[in-house]
Amino acid sequence: MPIITVSHQKGGVGKSTLAYNIAVELSKKYPVEVVDLDVQETVSSYNRIRKLMGQEGLNVKIFTSDDDLLYYYNNVDEKTIVVVDSGGFDSALNRLSILAADFLLTPVSSEFTELLGLEKYKQILEQISIQSGNKVITNVVLNKINPSQKHFDEIVDFINESPYFIKLNSILRRRVDFANSVAHGFSVNELDATSESAKEFNQLLQEIIDKGITNG
Ligand SMILES: Nc1ncnc2c1ncn2[C@@H]1O[C@H](COP(=O)(O)OP(=O)(O)O)[C@@H](O)[C@H]1O
Ligand SMILES: [Mg+2]
Repeated sequence: MPIITVSHQKGGVGKSTLAYNIAVELSKKYPVEVVDLDVQETVSSYNRIRKLMGQEGLNVKIFTSDDDLLYYYNNVDEKTIVVVDSGGFDSALNRLSILAADFLLTPVSSEFTELLGLEKYKQILEQISIQSGNKVITNVVLNKINPSQKHFDEIVDFINESPYFIKLNSILRRRVDFANSVAHGFSVNELDATSESAKEFNQLLQEIIDKGITNG
């Protein structure tokens, strides 16, 4: 079954937030395991709050050795969906998780400085592609976008020009629900399924299911 890796060497773009929401929602339909590679152990903390608040917890795993992680990816039950929250840095564990992924997801915001981070990440994907002999392509989702912003030409052009990036159609706006839901041990969907944040998130989830789970 698919390994979904949420990855970007830049921090603060929403990797842990999206990995947590994806894992919570998919776990309602599929057996899900989460690999938490973030040194901050963000998803593990969110999961702790979740359990304290009386929700059913996620199955979160932490790895410190490349060999253990590789063994896990090679032997995980084929019915299980693995959601990987990779840390905001470049490491062997993260590169392994990029290579193992059936679906790679990279959140990025639309400020100009984000281009610099994305340029760096592109070089990492290029290196991994050359070393492994497999072209690694990530699905880029615009996240934390100001709700009033309508044009993203610079970042969209940058994404479209790179052979290592594909832009997803979903756009996630900056919504307080993402932080508020965690405080209650919820996903944005569980907090309020009719909210804008939930609608936007569910559109992303559907794109992931269509591209990464149904066909992957
Ligand atoms: N769409 C969003 N709207 C508002 N806040 C968001 C959104 N996505 C993420 N955040 C917030 O941005 C911060 C960084 O997100 P996080 O998922 O921890 O990033 P990363 O794992 O890439 O470092 C967190 O405070 C999180 O709540
Ligand atoms: Mg994180």
